[in-house]
Amino acid sequence: MTPPPSPCYSAPMTTLEATAPTASIGHDRLARLMKRGTDFLGSEVAIMAGAMSWVSERNLVSAMSNAGGFGVIACGAMTPELLDAEIAATKALTTRPFGVNLITMHPMLNELIDVCAKHGVGHVVLAGGLPPGGAIERIKGSGAKVICFPPTLAFAKKLIRSGVDALVIEGMEAGGHIGPVSTSVLAQEILPAVASELPVFVAGGIGRGEAMAGYLEMGAAGVQLGTRFVCATECIAHPNFKKAFIRASARDATASVQIDPRLPVIPVRALKNAAGELFTAKQREVAQLLDDGKVEMMEAQLQIEHYWAGALRRAVIDGDVEHGSVMAGQSVGMVTKEEPLADILKSLVDEGAKALERRSGG
Ligand SMILES: Cc1cc2nc3c(=O)[nH]c(=O)nc-3n(C[C@H](O)[C@H](O)[C@H](O)COP(=O)(O)O)c2cc1C
Repeated sequence: MTPPPSPCYSAPMTTLEATAPTASIGHDRLARLMKRGTDFLGSEVAIMAGAMSWVSERNLVSAMSNAGGFGVIACGAMTPELLDAEIAATKALTTRPFGVNLITMHPMLNELIDVCAKHGVGHVVLAGGLPPGGAIERIKGSGAKVICFPPTLAFAKKLIRSGVDALVIEGMEAGGHIGPVSTSVLAQEILPAVASELPVFVAGGIGRGEAMAGYLEMGAAGVQLGTRFVCATECIAHPNFKKAFIRASARDATASVQIDPRLPVIPVRALKNAAGELFTAKQREVAQLLDDGKVEMMEAQLQIEHYWAGALRRAVIDGDVEHGSVMAGQSVGMVTKEEPLADILKSLVDEGAKALERRSGG
């Protein structure tokens, strides 16, 4: 979905261009540091709005891309038919590039890849673990770029050998499903080792442009943020969901805890509420059933998984922020109001540019 190469192609002015301040040393330097990322994404700034299930649909994605950033549709558990409709609707709202995030364990992954190919989606992000055999080749065969999330340096090298085109390294400060390592440590381990080989985007806990500039200086091609974009005016999240974000501070965004080694739980970072407490109680109850021999292991694990099914939807769409899952990263404390997406993007860019100008003594 890169813009046509024709010299007569004239894209509408992005909000960033329309409101651009007189170019400063800092803005020039930021643009230079982002060049690899913007070339790769086809966007004006190398800032991705990470896919968020139920949140990252046509409205937020098109607003992000129209403003000069890079939006990513969250496919989540959508069927191929639903994804088809969502991509078509997004294309009706923007002529700019955007990506699609697919979960590797989706039972119809190949069909979803084919839907992306049909629409000429330029970038497919594979989330949720090691891509199954053939998935990377299938995506690349359609001409799209593949982006993956390596949880460790060894994994990053393995993905590079498998032919992925870019990486997102995401630390445990992020909202949603998380790994155990912080963004700053992942960045120090992975950027110096592989950033010369392919574009690497840094995610997790970035709330302001100064932090973005820091990772760019360390060799990142760009950044990915999620939490910071939830309260964009264009975002369809329920007003209760947005209010919960605006009220919360960093320490309210906590990771779910696994209480029994037999019942694996991928930690999820979300705002503390009744749903989190009930989840702990549910784990205890299922562990007890296991102890008493009343359920098989498989059934017990299914009960745990099913508990969360629909929990994010209940909060994002229905607005039940007590019993639903209000996934949010630690940067939630820096979300203080609802504002147009272009304004959020502009703040990030201006803060980053100012920081770079200060550091270069300008
Ligand atoms: C509400 C919410 C839902 C998310 N859902 C997904 C998802 O479906 N797939 C995915 O790969 N990442 C998901 N993420 C992670 C984001 O794509 C992004 O990487 C993350 O939010 C970046 O960190 P930050 O929250 O600190 O900005 C989600 C994050 C949030 C806050």
